[in-house]
Amino acid sequence: MISEKIENILNEQINKEFYSAYLYLAISGYFDEMGLKGFSHWTRVQAKEEMDHGMILFDYIIERQGKVNLKQIEMPDTDFGTPLDVFKKIYAHEKYVTDSINCVANMTDEECDLATRHFINWYISEQVEEEANVDDIIKKLEMFGEEKSILYHLDKELKERSYKPHTYNS
Ligand code: FEO
Repeated sequence: MISEKIENILNEQINKEFYSAYLYLAISGYFDEMGLKGFSHWTRVQAKEEMDHGMILFDYIIERQGKVNLKQIEMPDTDFGTPLDVFKKIYAHEKYVTDSINCVANMTDEECDLATRHFINWYISEQVEEEANVDDIIKKLEMFGEEKSILYHLDKELKERSYKPHTYNS
């Protein structure tokens, strides 16, 4: 069984993951309006992954005989700007999520909860990958600029992203 402190921090993390899904979905709609179907697809896939992140926490709390408390999800920002602006905002958001996951890890140490510490390690690795993926897109946008022909090619590249569901214990 998990402690109350661990239960609370994991429930807060569920909310942050579902907010992330909302944010990526809002961005996906924005790119769709701009006619950037590949950018839209990439962020929509990310929204699905964020839902998975939330559900893995959800299932873990239940398996550890805790109580799931779903909290209100904030409305995402809608002031996005250019594709480079958007990816810089995404990067800042992912850094915020990384900090939050690190706080969960610290709490498991304080509570001597080795099982949750082991569980949260997956999220630590996932954040490394997510920050790197977003940084890669930012670097391309900074290196090649945001002219239409460049965006066209990057849009085609981002359209190739496939979705592979993440689930707890699989
Ligand atoms: Fe689930 Fe993008 O952090």
